[in-house]
Amino acid sequence: MSLFQRLFSGKTHRIFKWLATDMHSHLLPGIDDGSPDMPTTMEYLTQLQEIGYQKVITTPHVMRELYPNKAADIKALAAKVNEEAVAAGLTIKLEASAEYMLDDGFDTLLENDQLIPIANRYILIEMSYVAPTLNYENTIFKIQAQGFIPILAHPERYNYLSMSDFERIKSLGCLLQVNLLSLTGYYGKHTQAIGQQLIQQKHASFLGSDMHHNRHLEAIKEISSSGKLVRLIENTEWQNSKL
Ligand SMILES: [Fe+2]
Repeated sequence: MSLFQRLFSGKTHRIFKWLATDMHSHLLPGIDDGSPDMPTTMEYLTQLQEIGYQKVITTPHVMRELYPNKAADIKALAAKVNEEAVAAGLTIKLEASAEYMLDDGFDTLLENDQLIPIANRYILIEMSYVAPTLNYENTIFKIQAQGFIPILAHPERYNYLSMSDFERIKSLGCLLQVNLLSLTGYYGKHTQAIGQQLIQQKHASFLGSDMHHNRHLEAIKEISSSGKLVRLIENTEWQNSKL
């Protein structure tokens, strides 16, 4: 075991304790490309608690084609996970929302009041990594017209968006959520640079793990070993702990 592993394995990491709440992850069992089953979900929650998080708002994908998850099913599954977590003696709080793909099914969900907002007010949205959703600005307005605040998940991962696009999206009232993994270079150098830039320029409001599996968690922990990254994160006013 390396010195780094000895120092950090199984111990609270200051940065996650400080962030307190994670608001983007795929921890509900068997519902998307995240945790495959209940024992794995329990293992992930145990580890997230161990590193310092006090609350996770987990956000399974809702995509019309791939993962047509319904609000009632997400809530029922989250209740089941919570039961198991309490039985296992975990103290970490779990709430469920969703990560909504802006596809042709999203408008129907929005119009029929079938979304699960984060903290009763935020809707976490994503787009394809290949091309933007047509008229996404219009969708941002529609979300606001229903009384919600949109949050764009991992803007730094959309290579087709520029810094001026991010500024425009923010000016429309859509908040931005950067992935912790982007900051470590997990998705490549370009995404890393944009993620850091979004934070430095005070454009990002939320930090999320976007955890799907154990390799993600191991990579996220590496943030603790970078004083530069810890300082960058700690010098920013995040909305996470207010959720
Ligand atoms: Fe995600």
